[in-house]
Amino acid sequence: MRDATDSVEFVSQLRELLGPDSLRTGPDDLAPLLADHRQLFRGRAAALALPDSTAEVSRLLAFCNTHRISVVPQGGNTGYCGGATPDESGTALLLSLRRMRRIRAVNADDFALVADAGCTLAEVQVAAEGADRYFPLSLGSEGSCQIGGNLATNAGGTAVLRYGMMRDLTLGIEAVLADGSVISQLAPLRKDNTGYDLRQLLIGSEGTLGIITAACLKLFPAVRARATAWISVASADQALSLLALLRERSADRLVTCELVPQAALNLVLQHIPAARDPGTAAAPWYLLVELASSGEDDMDGLLQAALAQALERDLVLDAALARNGAQREDFWRLRESVPAAQRVAGASLKHDISVPVARIPEFIRRGSALVEQHVPEGFLVAYGHIGDGNLHFNVNQRPGADSAAFLAREAPLKRAVHDLVASMGGSFSAEHGIGQLKVAELERYAQPAELAAMRAIKHALDPNGILNPGKVLRSTPP
Ligand code: FAD
Ligand code: MLT
Ligand code: ZN
Repeated sequence: MRDATDSVEFVSQLRELLGPDSLRTGPDDLAPLLADHRQLFRGRAAALALPDSTAEVSRLLAFCNTHRISVVPQGGNTGYCGGATPDESGTALLLSLRRMRRIRAVNADDFALVADAGCTLAEVQVAAEGADRYFPLSLGSEGSCQIGGNLATNAGGTAVLRYGMMRDLTLGIEAVLADGSVISQLAPLRKDNTGYDLRQLLIGSEGTLGIITAACLKLFPAVRARATAWISVASADQALSLLALLRERSADRLVTCELVPQAALNLVLQHIPAARDPGTAAAPWYLLVELASSGEDDMDGLLQAALAQALERDLVLDAALARNGAQREDFWRLRESVPAAQRVAGASLKHDISVPVARIPEFIRRGSALVEQHVPEGFLVAYGHIGDGNLHFNVNQRPGADSAAFLAREAPLKRAVHDLVASMGGSFSAEHGIGQLKVAELERYAQPAELAAMRAIKHALDPNGILNPGKVLRSTPP
């Protein structure tokens, strides 16, 4: 779409094509969708399309491709990189699948479920439970993020250690390509080696290669026993050794191992009204660990025995096992509320990095020195998925510090942290993707051959560049 005059014309044609329920242009419909949830990006859009079937998505894309109209898919808008926010031209069409939220099938014997991409993650978890099965993707945003968004970002979360990321949890997808053609691979096949894996190409593509309309997801036996502990440790080295010991001693039952620093616990206890002090000895670092089993095994006993060994080896300072469901929720709240507490506390500079798991303590040491050197107005809040080698290496503004001075540190700190990550064989975006926030970082750190292949794939599948332009890759190479 070239300009506003075109917009009016195309919108009326689209309304005819899709029907009145599937197209909205009112400010009340559009306004809440035009900024990302961190308020880093704000855009405009000509209209919001709300298709209610894959066939409708197909008609819509064929039309948009013919008329060169940009399409920006948006799920629950919980992403961290501005991937679902349109640019400021006002010519793009926002596309939401929120009317497509049917659980199409649950097949307990295949341990598989087929869901529309507009289902929320929580809806899929509940549908799995209804069939005495378990869908393990677990995110703090699960009440509002959508399966389409989870696939498009290849979401991670707090159970990756045992079950993997969204890519590992997906048997097949249905997607509409830029020209309106439909790829439908929804059979619950565990094995299928027939040519290029288009499912994996589309997963993690952030809306730039196709619109994902449904998925066949892997289910697991329902969890029948769990043990959860909040553990005080003296150092990141101890946390790493404890992680290894728990993996060795728990018969592969370790699902979650999350690192929380004292600074993050302080923020949560200060700013989250429902948060309760875990009651373990104060320490520089804490771990939230959870073991789970589909049998009636004694998970508490297993965890206690492993922790007793850890105590003998001086790997833990103190630990509390959740005595009941309420205390388990209390421990989880302490971890899951960290992003919210950081937000309430004020501005923060965020990095979503990964390095090989064994190098996490070294990264923390070297990264902390960079924070001290670059951000005198801030303090480090490095938390997250230590079991996956993934830290949210964030820095919050010190109370009373000068905001402008603090925010001015963002670019030099980012460069220093991402250079360190690269030098350690890590990734500058472990689980949140590229969106529009990290396009320049991808250009800087990806190998030239990788970038060239990505651009070639984008051009082959979306030659007119209508799908989420400017996300992941710049619209036209610089
Ligand atoms: P959106 O934010 O709406 O979109 C994300 C990207 O996907 C955009 O590029 C968009 O264009 C594209 N997209 C959306 N739907 C489709 C579709 N149907 N087809 C094609 N492209 C599409 N993420 C983690 O990985 N791990 C975490 O632990 C985690 N915890 C979080 C905790 C909180 C409190 C919050 C707010 C977010 C968290 N996130 C986490 C980030 C976020 O929830 C995930 O990235 C999630 O997968 C995004 O889903 P969404 O539906 O909100 O997608
Ligand atoms: C988390 O693990 O809590 C999320 O990925 C959110 C964040 O990056 O802050
Ligand atoms: Zn995370």
